[in-house]
Amino acid sequence: MPRYQLIARQLKTAIEHGELKPGTRLPSSRTWSQELGVSRSTVENAYADLVAQGWLERHGQAGTFVSKQLRLDTTPAAPAVFAGENPTPQIFQMGLPALDLFPREIWARVMGRRLRTQTRFDLALGDVCGELLLRQAIVDYLRVSRSIECLPEQVFITSGYAASITLILRTLAKPGEGMWVEDPGFPLIRPVVMQERVELMPVPVDDDGLDVDVGVRDYPQARFALLTPAHQSPLGVALSLARRHRLLEWATRAQAWIIEDDYDSEFRYHGKPLPPLKSLDAPQRVIYTGTFSKSLFPALRTAWLVVPVTQVAQFRQQAALTACSVPVLWQQTLADFIREGHFWRHLKKMRQHYAQRRQWMENALADQGFTVVPQDGGIQMVMTIAGDDVALVRKANQAGLAVQALSHWRMVSAGKGGILLSFTNIHSAEMAQQAARQLRQAITDS
Ligand SMILES: Cc1ncc(COP(=O)(O)O)c(C=O)c1O
Repeated sequence: MPRYQLIARQLKTAIEHGELKPGTRLPSSRTWSQELGVSRSTVENAYADLVAQGWLERHGQAGTFVSKQLRLDTTPAAPAVFAGENPTPQIFQMGLPALDLFPREIWARVMGRRLRTQTRFDLALGDVCGELLLRQAIVDYLRVSRSIECLPEQVFITSGYAASITLILRTLAKPGEGMWVEDPGFPLIRPVVMQERVELMPVPVDDDGLDVDVGVRDYPQARFALLTPAHQSPLGVALSLARRHRLLEWATRAQAWIIEDDYDSEFRYHGKPLPPLKSLDAPQRVIYTGTFSKSLFPALRTAWLVVPVTQVAQFRQQAALTACSVPVLWQQTLADFIREGHFWRHLKKMRQHYAQRRQWMENALADQGFTVVPQDGGIQMVMTIAGDDVALVRKANQAGLAVQALSHWRMVSAGKGGILLSFTNIHSAEMAQQAARQLRQAITDS
């Protein structure tokens, strides 16, 4: 551990134990560095770290003080990015897999081997649609795990979900066309769609998933329907089989495109999932999007699309304009990682861990009187909540808990309030208990 972190940790402990009280002025970095025999910047870095995490606050010339806002029964406000370092995950932070369980050593070995055996030809630009080896590995994976039959030519590698949606719209959409989106649904994709000048058409979601009949009634002329059929984000319901068929019928009739976002189907803890829309796609109206952000890690920036055979040439043309943005070495590493069975083993292990972590979190939240909506899979949770979820979530965020308000995921739909959270980085039953207590305290305190 670097020296500045040791100093930061000592300071934190002193604050936690009440030896340094809120409002106490700390010695100047010059005085302290002389006393400790370290450089002044080491002390400055320790201070900066704790300021970013909310433990300390700076008052210009007056110096650095223990934060007055600090409530010692809660973790201080989540760390901002500390210069030169990655942000650490916040408690309940959504969209993150368990960072502690990724087999980094295996990954490093696989990548190291690739790096050592590269030839000079590997230094040239790769395939604009993504490396064939990786696309083939994805085809094999989809056949076994999702019953999707496709050719490597139909697969396009992108740098994430937003990049996938951009590629789809640049290939197929004209400005002013419309897209059904789930309401409530993943909010971060909305600006990406609007940037391509495609209109968002909110369609409500109920216990059977997106209400296809409402979509057909209100927006029959839409060109696209974007949805999460396997496990609706955020409510967790599955699109019923009857609706899947109606959706495909509508898309065929209206010559519309269905975009199936299968963002977390790798993680299912009970029962068998319904087949993906793509596997029922005889009329070839479905574009399937998947990502490695949840199954491996988000910094990988690797996702993929499966497009209908009839559209391959058009997508290829569009992809060529920017070329694949995932470095060849990373794609080759990922392909090896899948082909050598590491991906499968990792998924199997993660299913067990996530089932356990979810259970810990569910129990702990129930102990605090929260109502968790039962779900069959996924890496996030919804709790229904009486009252203003936005106000409650604001309080929780102020206490450093990265939960989100269901109302923020809604566009026009009315409905119950809720709190959305992730359990993936909850390492133990004790940690779950503590996090649930913190959440209860944060939203109860006025
Ligand atoms: C609904 C949904 N789709 C897709 C993604 C994947 O995004 P990306 O591949 O850009 O990490 C996420 C990530 O949080 C998501 O919540």
